[in-house]
This record gives sequence, C-alpha cells and structure tokens, in this order.
Amino acid sequence: MSSELENLTTSIDEVAQFFDVTVTDTPLPVDEREALKAKPKFGTVFSDHMARMTWREDEGWDGRRVEKYGPIALDPAAAVFHYGQEIFEGLKAYRHADGSVWSFRPEENAKRYIRSARRLALPELSVGDFLGSVAALVRADVEWIPTGEEAALYLRPFMIATEAFLGVRPAREVEHLVIASPVGPYFSGGVHPVNIWISQDYARASRGGTGEAKCGGNYAASLLPQITAAKDGFDQVCFLDGQVDPAIEELGGMNVFFVKHNGDVVTPALSGSILHGVTRSSILQLIKERNVNVSEEHISLASLKAMLESGEIAEAFACGTAAVITPIGRLADHDFDVTINGGEPGKFTMDVREELTDIQNGRRPDRHGWLTRLA
Ligand code: COI
Repeated sequence: MSSELENLTTSIDEVAQFFDVTVTDTPLPVDEREALKAKPKFGTVFSDHMARMTWREDEGWDGRRVEKYGPIALDPAAAVFHYGQEIFEGLKAYRHADGSVWSFRPEENAKRYIRSARRLALPELSVGDFLGSVAALVRADVEWIPTGEEAALYLRPFMIATEAFLGVRPAREVEHLVIASPVGPYFSGGVHPVNIWISQDYARASRGGTGEAKCGGNYAASLLPQITAAKDGFDQVCFLDGQVDPAIEELGGMNVFFVKHNGDVVTPALSGSILHGVTRSSILQLIKERNVNVSEEHISLASLKAMLESGEIAEAFACGTAAVITPIGRLADHDFDVTINGGEPGKFTMDVREELTDIQNGRRPDRHGWLTRLA
C-alpha cells in the first residue's frame, strides 16, 4: 500500500484513479439493461464490470483494476472453499434528481471491512482502496443505477482467501472484489410488515465468535433456521445470544428496534456478537435528534415477551442496508405469537424510514455529512 493512497481517503477522485479500467467490449445491450433495471429483484442481476485487487503476503495489495464482470477461476484447494476465510460488505449507490451519484456513509463500511478482516485473519484493505474500488466500479457502470422509489445500485465488496493450501492457517493470497446489482426493495412485494420467528433452537453467533464480523459463515448459520421458519410462514428469524437467560440479538442480516407506547425506543446493545449496522447507528442518531428517549439495552427474551404481551410495544422494525427500515408485523416463538400494530406499518417506523431514505436519495439536506459523491 502506498502511503500516498493511505492519505487520500477523503478524495474519491484521487482514490478511484488508481484503478485501471478495462471496459468490456461485450456490455449488455442497452434495451436489455434498461429492462432489467426497470424491475430489479434484489441481488439477481449484475452490472457489466467488477472491481478487483490482489494481495500477496510478500507484496501487499496490488493490481487495482476494473474488468468485465464474470466467473473467477480459483483452485479447488483455495482456502475460502474449505475454511470459509471470507468477509463482505453491503452499500448502495443512489442516483439523485440532478443525475449525481452518491453513497451513504461508505467510510463506515470501509472501517467495518477492516474490523471484519482482522477477525477473519485476512489482510486489511485501506479505507482509500475500499472507496476507490467502489467508486471506480460505480463510474464504469454508472448506467446501471436504477431510478425510482426504493431503487439503487447495491454494491457488494467481498474478500476471499484464494491460496491453494489445505493447512489451517491464514491464506497468503487473497482477492478483494466489488460487484454491483441494481436493486429494489429487499423483500418481494415492496415495503410491507414482515413476520419474525424468534429462534430458541439455533444461534447464529456467540460471545467471542464472529457475530460482529460481516462474514459468510454467520449468514450460512442463519439459513437452516430461516428455511425452517419460512415453512411456517415467517419471513425472517430473530436470533438470541445463546445464554441461559437469552437476550435478543439481531435478524441475521438486519438489526432490530422496538418502539414503545410511551414513545421510548430500544434496540439490542452491541454485545460483541451483533453486527455494527451502519443503518442502525444512523437511525439511532436520527431518533435522538427527535428528542425521543432511545436506548441500546440488553433485552432479554423474557422481558420482550412481557412487553409484547402487555401491549407495551407499539411498533417494531428491522433495519439494514438492503432492508433499509422494514416494519415488523408479527413476532412469535414456541410460547407466544403477537401481532404488532395490527400487522400494519407503524407511523414512527415509517416517519424515520422516510427521513433516512430522503437523506440517502438527496430529497432532504444531508445535515450530518453522511453522503459521499461517487460520480
Ligand atoms: C445488507 O443489508 O447489505 C446485507 O448485507 C444483509 C443481507 C440480508 C443482504
């Protein structure tokens, strides 16, 4: 890593210029691309290019490039296939009314990528290289950004251990890639309340584990509970902390908030096994500015159950980059089944959602300096 690049974390133009761009000579025809952008289904379609960097233990990060999107060749012995040495991020590029393209707090994703890398014994990628790879890709595929309500270009940076070696130790060769996908709402059918199953049978993470890191293994651990719950009509699973008197953690891919009838808002405190959501921390800030009493707490399942059954909880919502803010209409486990706010989106939830999405889409002033111009 050149010290020059280390110092350029605030100038997107400067960090993006380090990436060599090879424009594909076979982009998707414009009419096909526009048809795909018009009806984006989360994470199913990918843009023409991908950004890429390579790390070798003796050379550090190198090979900053943007190239045609496509399959990557890996040795079957690559460590990522065997020990899951992998991390990823999720952020979005938004097209504003004046045509400019912006991202929401991307440096927070970059910092979390560094923390995740440390936990998974992967090499750290500088904030500058993270932002540069994202911006270089967005600039190459700027025509892929969909417009319209809830639409954005979802960016997926990820890092994989590529060294072909079956011994259990950190890989000496690693690849960082960024791919992009035009998206609409995460849940099919648009923004509507989702039903959540609270799992007492499975945990996704535990203290000292990898729950705070954004790594594939955490999500793999959530799949079996997810399909089991889906069979009973639930959209997502809420995970507990696996302790004797279990506490609420997160929904695997989303953090969770509860709004009480007295106006107070609570969310599970960062326990060491909960993802530090960028959307979560932004929502905490927006709620505090409304002079609402908001706290990050240890919320035991027993206390949540009591609050739900007594009717103390007025609204609940899930949040994340992909889900933005998604109202929760029902919470259930083996012992209880409670409909929240009559199964309708709550007013507070939808107000905060509107404020957040207005900022992201340039419809309200960016008072916090949360937006970074990408193109
Ligand atoms: C995101 O919100 O960006 C995530 O990575 C979570 C996943 C459910 C898509």
